[in-house]
Amino acid sequence: MDDLGSVPWPPTPIKTERLVLREPEARDRTMFIDLLASPEVNTYLGGPRPRDELERETPDVPERWPGSFVVELDGTMIGWILLRRATDHRRPAATGKADLGYLFLPHTWGNGYAREACTAALTWFDTTHPGEPIILTTQSANLSSMHLAAALGFTELERFEAWNAEQWLGQRPPASTV
Ligand SMILES: CC(C)(COP(=O)(O)OP(=O)(O)OC[C@H]1O[C@@H](n2cnc3c(N)ncnc32)[C@H](O)[C@@H]1OP(=O)(O)O)[C@@H](O)C(=O)NCCC(=O)NCCS
Repeated sequence: MDDLGSVPWPPTPIKTERLVLREPEARDRTMFIDLLASPEVNTYLGGPRPRDELERETPDVPERWPGSFVVELDGTMIGWILLRRATDHRRPAATGKADLGYLFLPHTWGNGYAREACTAALTWFDTTHPGEPIILTTQSANLSSMHLAAALGFTELERFEAWNAEQWLGQRPPASTV
């Protein structure tokens, strides 16, 4: 995966009804570690990383690259949205396309925050990359992610086996044809 490259960055913070999407800042460091160390968050993402390793390796200002959005609720990070270029995707149908990923802290699940934030990120993407589709890969057993993907307008391209599980590859068509 690569970042989105030559896109205006950082973006002006994007405000939704309840949330703000913005570039990561130093004050988000603990929440990044919480996300990546959480067994619940990483159930379908290869498992959590050891907290002490994350404490050592996470830079003071985490994950600053074009397409890396912190999602903030009432001034505190609750999630992370990743828009990247799938340069090395194992499925030809996905290779080279923009790719959406999302991780939210478990105590915030089930409130529609992920849907609200991803909708805003996709709208931003439609503006910066008009006419481009977006793909998304998730384990088909990850029901929350499957529901969110469907709610965001992704439809199935194919399923495939990888990382010892069935993977679902979905695509959202360019905005003009949605
Ligand atoms: C995937 C994830 C972001 C969803 O977060 P969330 O807080 O449940 O999402 P939302 O509250 O915005 O819900 C989105 C939709 O999915 C539905 N949904 C969420 N969890 C569900 C579940 N377990 N079963 C059925 N529907 C579910 C919601 O009802 C909602 O549908 P609606 O918009 O039609 O009402 C969250 O579970 C997460 O961070 N998981 C760990 C990281 C991960 O696995 N990411 C996927 C890899 S990219």
